[in-house]
This record gives sequence, structure tokens and C-alpha cells, in this order.
Amino acid sequence: MTQPLLSVEGLKKYYPVRTGLGRPARLRAVDGVSFAIERGETLSLVGESGCGKSTVGRAVLGLLPVTAGQVSLDGGRIDNLGPAAFRPVRKRLQVVFQDPFSSLNPRLKVREIVAEPIRNFWPDLRREDIDRRVAEVLDKVRLPRGSAERWPHEFSGGQRQRIGIARALSAEPDLIVCDEAVSALDVSVKAQIVNLLQDLQEELGLALLFISHDLAIVEHMAHRVAVMYLGKIVELAPRSALFAAPRHPYTKALLSAAPLVGPRAAGGQRIILSGDVPSPINPPKGCSFHTRCPLAVGRCRIDEPALRPVGPGHVSACHLDDDSDAATGGRPRLS
Ligand SMILES: Nc1ncnc2c1ncn2[C@@H]1O[C@H](COP(=O)(O)OP(=O)(O)O)[C@@H](O)[C@H]1O
Ligand SMILES: [Mg+2]
Repeated sequence: MTQPLLSVEGLKKYYPVRTGLGRPARLRAVDGVSFAIERGETLSLVGESGCGKSTVGRAVLGLLPVTAGQVSLDGGRIDNLGPAAFRPVRKRLQVVFQDPFSSLNPRLKVREIVAEPIRNFWPDLRREDIDRRVAEVLDKVRLPRGSAERWPHEFSGGQRQRIGIARALSAEPDLIVCDEAVSALDVSVKAQIVNLLQDLQEELGLALLFISHDLAIVEHMAHRVAVMYLGKIVELAPRSALFAAPRHPYTKALLSAAPLVGPRAAGGQRIILSGDVPSPINPPKGCSFHTRCPLAVGRCRIDEPALRPVGPGHVSACHLDDDSDAATGGRPRLS
């Protein structure tokens, strides 16, 4: 069997925090997440703000120490490497952040911003070779070559995001983590950047971990989608299955809140969830979604449901997918 490019197994990230009364506690930002990404594939992480998407992205990039679990690249662990051993990994895993205004150093010309990873990973290259590579990368992101001599503040949001993508590409990575990379952009610019990412992926065989709360964009971009709730993946499926036939009650509610995607786009009903997302400092027992789930039964308050296969490449963590009557208490299943 061939190795996936990236694999994440049982990833946990707990932060030490203090409660309102000053007592020490643990905030479970990510609480047992597993997935794999193949070469050239886009996996999207979706879910409401605070569910742990960025923490997963940062853990993959080696930007934070993990509490438990493993991250592997081509089958070799990367979550436990020291700075020197991580350098070649850093070249292969790049990132594009959300905010194109704060993520570029305002004191560096575009040439220096894009050249920085080149100098870092190919320290022996001559100046002319670096300039040539910068020009090639600017071509790839469809910025004029003359942009190299300009400053970040001279560019619009969409152009700055192209510069951010150019900087990531200049390392010649295998995977780019895009953390809400288009979320801050205007609608028309968003579409241009999304199309650019797709073209680059095809041209270069890039894998993308595409983190977004924007389901319309995800439906356009992703090959597979993982839905997170309170630090866990509750459903993971090929894009078409997830949008056409979501299985987890949380996924159904999430899709139904976005009018242009999923079953609701085809005339389905909006599902309104009651209550707020519980605190990751004190997550509910059993299924972490049971406090808001319109279909919760007794078992959901006690047992945590595991991710189970519900279709080809499709897993969902819901007791109602268990066929036995005991699981559902004989209640009708969510259609
Ligand atoms: N450095 C930190 N210290 C304490 N809590 C954090 C820290 N970073 C993130 N969190 C918490 O972890 C949870 C997940 O955050 P995050 O991964 O940023 O979610 P998302 O990207 O899905 O919005 C949130 O409750 C957030 O407040
Ligand atoms: Mg985030």
C-alpha cells in the first residue's frame, strides 16, 4: 500500500487555561483527530469558529507542540522533530494565512518576501538564479514581474494574497495549509484566488489542507471534506457525498444554514440548532453534539459515538447510524 502524503492520527491539543473562578483547567482545542491527505488532493476542514480547525493546521505545520497523537509525512513522524530535523519538512509544508494585510512584512519588497524561502532552502543559489525563480513564481500567481520591486502596501487584498501564495510556492512545497486563505476577500476576488489555487494544484500536483468556514467555497475546492465540532471530526466524506447526502445531524444543520449548498439548495428545510456551542473546557459527555442535536436519545448522553463507515470513503460519528433499535430507541431515523 502506498503511503499518504500526510497523515494525522489521534491528534490532541489541550491548552492550560484558568476558569472564571481562577481554577486551572484544560481547553480541548483538538481532541483526537485523524485524517490523511494524498498527493495532489484537497482536504477541507470545516466547522464553526472555535472548533479547532486552525489548531489542526498549526499542528500539521509544526507550529505548536501537540498534546498527543502523531503527524507523519510520507510515513515518517514529523511532530517530534527538533528544529534542524524539521527544516526539510518546513520546505515541503507551506502555509497561506487569512489576512493578506498582516501576513506580509511591510518593510520588505515583494522580491525579498518571495525570495526568503528560496534563500533559506537553497542557500547556495546565486543572485541571478534567485531573481529568475522569483520572476517564475510571480508568473505562476499571475502577478506582473515588475511587482518584485514594489512594496506590499501598494497592492490590493487579492494581489497581496497572490504574493502570499507566491511566497509559499517559492519553497516548492508538496502541501500548502490554506487557513481561511480567501475568507477576508471580496466575492469576485475570492473566486479568482480559488481558481488560481485550483490551477496551481493541477499544474504542480500540490496537496491542500483547505481550512474554511465558507461552505460554498469548500464545495468548489475540496476533493474530500472533514466536518469538525468541538475539537473532533464528526463526519468525513468525498465532497459530492458530503454535500448531496450528509449523514451527521451536525453536518445537516451546518449545510442547511448555508442556503446555496447541500440539500437546502435543492429545496431542503433549514435546521435551526438550539443553544450555543458548549465550552471546550467542559465538553459534554457522550456525543459532544448531543446538547444541540434535535435527534439525541439517551445513549447519546452517555456513550461517545465512534466514526463508522456509512458509504464509500464516508464516515460519520452518530449513534443513529447504528442499525439496532436499541440505539435509536425505536425512533425514526433522520432521513
Ligand atoms: N493559544 C491558545 N490558548 C488557549 N486557547 C486557545 C489557543 N489557541 C486556540 N485556543 C482555543 O482553541 C479552540 C480552537 O481554536 P481554533 O483552532 O483557532 O478554532 P477555529 O480555527 O476552528 O476557529 C478555541 O476554543 C480557541 O479559543
Ligand atoms: Mg481558525
